Amino acid sequence: MNEVINYIEKNKKNYIEELKEYLRIESISTAKDHKSDMQTCAKYVSGKLKDAGMKNLKIIKTKGNPLVYGDWMKAPGKPTVLIYGHYDVQPVDPLELWNTKPFEPVIKDGNIWARGANDNKGQNFVHIKSVEAYMKTLGKLPVNVKFLIEGEEEIGSPNLEIFLKENKKLLKCDAVLISDTSLYAEGIPTINYGLRGLAYLEVELTGPNVDLHSGSFGGSVANPINELAKLISKLQDKNGKITIPDFYKDVVPFTKKENENIASLKFSDKKYAKELDVKELQGEKGFNTLQRLWGRPTLDCNGIYGGFTEEGAKTVLPSKATAKISMRLVPNQNPDKVAKQFTKYVKSLVPKSIKVKVTDMHGGSPVVIPLDAPAIIAASKATSKAFGKKTVYTREGGSIPIVVDFVKQLKAPAILMGLGLDSDNIHSPNEHFSLKSFELGILSSAYFFEEFANLK
Ligand code: BES
Ligand code: MN
Repeated sequence: MNEVINYIEKNKKNYIEELKEYLRIESISTAKDHKSDMQTCAKYVSGKLKDAGMKNLKIIKTKGNPLVYGDWMKAPGKPTVLIYGHYDVQPVDPLELWNTKPFEPVIKDGNIWARGANDNKGQNFVHIKSVEAYMKTLGKLPVNVKFLIEGEEEIGSPNLEIFLKENKKLLKCDAVLISDTSLYAEGIPTINYGLRGLAYLEVELTGPNVDLHSGSFGGSVANPINELAKLISKLQDKNGKITIPDFYKDVVPFTKKENENIASLKFSDKKYAKELDVKELQGEKGFNTLQRLWGRPTLDCNGIYGGFTEEGAKTVLPSKATAKISMRLVPNQNPDKVAKQFTKYVKSLVPKSIKVKVTDMHGGSPVVIPLDAPAIIAASKATSKAFGKKTVYTREGGSIPIVVDFVKQLKAPAILMGLGLDSDNIHSPNEHFSLKSFELGILSSAYFFEEFANLK
């Protein structure tokens, strides 16, 4: 084991150079014009798995972007870990707010800056490098390892879901290891045990069949933007509760143990508000910030458009107005059920004078992972060793839609070994990832294999 740790220490500079290559590939999955970058990126990942000593390499075609698979199964009698990550990234706009180019990684202030640095290239690269360190020093791993790195996480993993159902044997494992979440705070080893789910819908309101002169027609006919604003304002009440009938019916409350854990984390609202540059925080009445983020559902308008938005003024009564609205969900809410409840309620709120179209875009189920699984305990020991501190347990506000399918289809616990920071600007301009977290992540992963091997 010492050889492995020394090897990682000696090679960390090279790892950063390699990560830069990975980050230069413009693998944006939400945009159609990046299809060839997705192929390039899949090939790149596959090459790195090969260099790390993985066998049985496959680039698996899907209806969308390819999946990358590789394994090393030469530890008979030892457990198998499936390492999941995603090589796709979010779009980079607004480009003008980036201090450096999104696909030209730069090292500055102890961070690597680029789209995907945290989410998720930096975090999945950690595991590739820890595996490689074992293979290059000891020539073997203490456990069996399978890698599955996909290219469609940011669009809800539509094709992986199908692949998983049809390839349970190939992906069979005792635990799924994922680094695609956050540390509780810098330098604090963290295992996340929950993710929120998501229901994402688009609401389009149509009034008159063309844009009208707002003087000649204003006052005589419903304005879809005005109606959309009224509609959105009705979706939450003054206590921050979502007004959709039966919306909270399936929500599982926090356990006493969870509330004690939350209290022990001593979260500072003041510091949080300051970092976000807001005077005070706001949310559902009766819950504190960590409760609101980790175990309460939310409704947010993600984008809204319609009418005249160019420079200057144009007096127009628009024909259409559209809003993209998402709801973060918690156990045991079901995204399809929520989408139906939302659609029915929205339709009931819109006046007769307006036509309404609601489109269900994508969704994902929430998940909570029991903390007593041996694999979780092994991971907690490993992160604690690497960081030199006691590991804390958190839930996350974000979503990784495929995690529920892993847990259900493979009947294996998911270990969410988050390494990012909430301040890393994922999905935003100036995304970055701490080089210290990158290094401690590689060590955590290396220690995990050792701890996990001791389970059987
Ligand atoms: N890595 C994130 C999820 C995440 C971020 C979890 C921060 C916890 C903390 C993941 O890549 C992501 O962005 N997921 C999307 C899923 C959606 C597009 C279906 C999300 O949460 O918005
Ligand atoms: Mn993401």
